Amino acid sequence: MNQDVRTKKAPNYGELAIEAQGLVKIYGNNRAVDGVDLNVGTGMIYGVLGPNGAGKTTAIRMLATLLRPDAGSARVFGHDVVKEPHIVRQLIGVTGQYASVDEALSATENLIIFSRLLGLGRAEARKKAADLLEEFGLTEAAKRPLKNFSGGMRRRLDLAASLIAQPPLIFLDEPTTGLDPRTRNQMWDTIRRLVKTGSTVLLTTQYLEEADQLADRIAVIDQGRVVAEGTVDDLKASVGTSSLHLRVQNPQDIEQARQTVEQVLKVQSNISAGAGKITAPMGNIDRVTDLLIALREAAIPLAEMSVQKPTLDEVFLTLTGHGVQEDELLSSSESNNVEGVRV
Ligand SMILES: Nc1ncnc2c1ncn2[C@@H]1O[C@H](COP(=O)(O)OP(=O)(O)OP(=O)(O)O)[C@@H](O)[C@H]1O
Ligand SMILES: [Mg+2]
Repeated sequence: MNQDVRTKKAPNYGELAIEAQGLVKIYGNNRAVDGVDLNVGTGMIYGVLGPNGAGKTTAIRMLATLLRPDAGSARVFGHDVVKEPHIVRQLIGVTGQYASVDEALSATENLIIFSRLLGLGRAEARKKAADLLEEFGLTEAAKRPLKNFSGGMRRRLDLAASLIAQPPLIFLDEPTTGLDPRTRNQMWDTIRRLVKTGSTVLLTTQYLEEADQLADRIAVIDQGRVVAEGTVDDLKASVGTSSLHLRVQNPQDIEQARQTVEQVLKVQSNISAGAGKITAPMGNIDRVTDLLIALREAAIPLAEMSVQKPTLDEVFLTLTGHGVQEDELLSSSESNNVEGVRV
């Protein structure tokens, strides 16, 4: 049965790996997931980007049959997560689900147990465990009991365990949070390899850079809702390739400064009034010269000016708040160059 399902569901490009409509999860008064739609094509890396508490883990848990939605529906390779959870579970892997491994056993022993549970023979299980430990740079630690593992080592072992079966769809919930840069790069390579060898990956992250490196498409979620969806390029275009930070000397100049910024750069800007600071997306850095001249002509003295790469904060500011209402963002899509980003 297990095998049948997998054979039947081997990646069929064009088919949707995940199709979710109006997913809702409510905790008390908190709409943790508040009407999420997701369409994830087969064979891609799909990134779900959002700050702490956005609802990423809750959404994944519903898609992975670990949590029942309060409303909405979701299908994994066409199978309903509520009505056919047993089939869905055969098609997916979730990191984090191995948290209850035996702490007293070594990494090798844990991986062998998982392999045996998945039906591998003894020799095959031993080889699989050794191969995975080597790939994840855990060979030296292989014999140590898990209780002596660092957080990063655990994370790697966790992903290794989910790779034993290499299911068609893999959920990775913040796979690299807290990892050092070298380990994070290894993790990225492994994730890419998973997709090359036929899996679809849905990963959550708080890092724009990670989504940038890995994801073919991204959903940005905030307060339980998808606030933008598109390719990495779509998302970047919505905040500009770089962003301008500007602080005026006299707080009373801020409105006029903002108008000048918007006229010269032809974009929407954001004000954090307390700090007297304006941020705005910049497509073309050359325009900064025009802006400085315009500010001088308007007799607005500056305290600070810089041009930086957009941070995740700015993506959120641009997509979710501070004067850029959802419909404004849509209607300004031409000047703001957000075509393709569904808001
Ligand atoms: N079991 C639960 N009981 C009550 N509230 C919960 C529960 N799980 C999550 N929440 C709440 O639901 C919201 C979404 O949480 P969730 O864990 O999905 O966020 P997240 O995007 O994964 O955040 P993080 O980046 O911190 O992992 C939060 O407000 C959280 O406090
Ligand atoms: Mg989470």
